[in-house]
Amino acid sequence: DWTPQSFIEETVENLKNKIGDDKVVLGLSGGVDSSVAAMLLNKAIGKNLYCIFVNNGLLRKNEFEDVLHQYQGMGLNVKGVDASARFLDALDGESDPETKRKIIGRVFIEVFDDEAHRIEDVKWLAQGTIYPDVIESVSATGGPSATIKSHHNVGGLPDFMKLKVVEPLKSLFKDEVRRVGASMNMDPLLLGRHPFPGPGLAIRILGDLTREKVRILQEVDAIFINNLKSWNLYDKVWQAGAILLPVNSVGVMGDERTYEKCVALRAVESTDGMTADWVNLPYEFLQKTSNEIINKVKGVNRVVYDISSKPPATIEWE
Ligand code: XMP
Repeated sequence: DWTPQSFIEETVENLKNKIGDDKVVLGLSGGVDSSVAAMLLNKAIGKNLYCIFVNNGLLRKNEFEDVLHQYQGMGLNVKGVDASARFLDALDGESDPETKRKIIGRVFIEVFDDEAHRIEDVKWLAQGTIYPDVIESVSATGGPSATIKSHHNVGGLPDFMKLKVVEPLKSLFKDEVRRVGASMNMDPLLLGRHPFPGPGLAIRILGDLTREKVRILQEVDAIFINNLKSWNLYDKVWQAGAILLPVNSVGVMGDERTYEKCVALRAVESTDGMTADWVNLPYEFLQKTSNEIINKVKGVNRVVYDISSKPPATIEWE
């Protein structure tokens, strides 16, 4: 019978035998899978696990600082690398969705490779791959592993990809990963986090990408997500976020006519991201959230709610 406890005992034992005194590098994404993988390896080999958490400048508001702090509190040997400027410089003015993904994949690999080189004599690359990642081409959970997979054939293998690979969650489904995490006393807030795409807010900014747009979208997204939490709706939703549209529309503020940006809010129910239904959020919630966004976020004068299901629409707009 599968239980989280027996899985943990068995896996930790196997990891110890397999890895011995070798050093392992792992990219943390802030998501559930890489975090649980790190905790298992930490149990098995402690400080010989070197975790790297990269800020690509496209995370949610305050996410990098908050999550890094949380990882440190969990006893992980983690290095936070703020590479925002490198990513945002490379993306400045870019509007094509696939080009954005390629740029982000390339810069991530460069940054991760630099960091892996700093770890003397590292032998293994650990990844938070779960069973659905093995059978699907696009990871629904995002994160470094998803980025690596789709770009590893560009310009020869970076050195860290020549390392031996260890994937302790490879046989598990998402709910099992969460149960394993819970059994290791990981924070329920971390385990219950919505999936977030590896390319982050870059694929939620339609049209050319600029730092100012990233900042605006972070503000809008934070209001939406915080409100979902305070209305106890966050856990009823599988994934939620805001999209900055390449549309200006006319509004009125006091006596002034405005011509400003429009954002779309998206919240979906799903089990695996392959199909999804839009969530019937209460009108009062939408009303309060829309007012708050328009009052607080300068540059936005219109909010719309996405009522499209997948298929035929996708969850993300790009
Ligand atoms: P779609 O938009 O295809 O999204 O319905 C399904 C799930 O996949 C996530 N997604 C991505 N994750 N890199 C990722 O790591 C990507 O390029 C990417 N595109 C979409 C999306 O957030 C949803 O959970």
